[in-house]
Amino acid sequence: MKIIRVNSYEEMSRKAADLIGEEINRKPDLVLGLATGSTPKGTYAQLVSDYEKGKVDFSLVRTVNLDEYAGLSPESPHSYRYFMNTQLFDHINIDPANTHIPDGLSDEEEECARYEQLITSLGGIDLQLLGLGHNGHIGFNEPADEYARYTHPVELTESTIQANSRLFENVRDMPRRALTMGVGTIMQAERILLIVSGEGKREALKQTLSGPIRPDFPASVLQLHRDVTVIAEADVF
Ligand code: GLP
Repeated sequence: MKIIRVNSYEEMSRKAADLIGEEINRKPDLVLGLATGSTPKGTYAQLVSDYEKGKVDFSLVRTVNLDEYAGLSPESPHSYRYFMNTQLFDHINIDPANTHIPDGLSDEEEECARYEQLITSLGGIDLQLLGLGHNGHIGFNEPADEYARYTHPVELTESTIQANSRLFENVRDMPRRALTMGVGTIMQAERILLIVSGEGKREALKQTLSGPIRPDFPASVLQLHRDVTVIAEADVF
């Protein structure tokens, strides 16, 4: 793994956006895997700014998001589709038809099979952006007895529900299920960019970089990938 220590959230976001921009400039029809959560917000703001300055062109880029809550419509302000539209897609020249996120309202199993097939039909993921859950989840791959190979429905853990419910008015409104790319789907990406911010992620980062590789801490599997870049704030180490 290539590890880049930075001094601030802004620097992390700047470096992550630079790396993504370089990949798009190298391959204009990049298949870009995207993540949600607080961590990538600054990266998306930087990408919007780079687009406005003419430094990056999204017209041919295809995107696939990691995950979506089950039961939320794309219009729900809590859905990941809504997050991506408002944080990034609405502000750049990407073709909306080229932006893909699992549909939280469809039959779960059918939608997961469709989504996995879609990623295959795009030729796989060139660059996957990841955040890190406190419990080591990537996408919504929660700690488990085994790694999930493909996109699949999941029951969210209590730890994730508590962590993410801050974005809902009431913890009861938060979905208990989600659809997520599998660890296998993520590991097949050509290149992975993991961004980590906040002292609360210190133990999770340590386990990711040097803990035992085990499915009950899903991000540890990244140690086996041949091309991972980690950009993290110095105080998370
Ligand atoms: C969610 C997402 C993950 C994300 C994680 C961390 O659960 N499904 O993809 O990495 O939260 O979020 P944050 O960046 O807000 O800590």
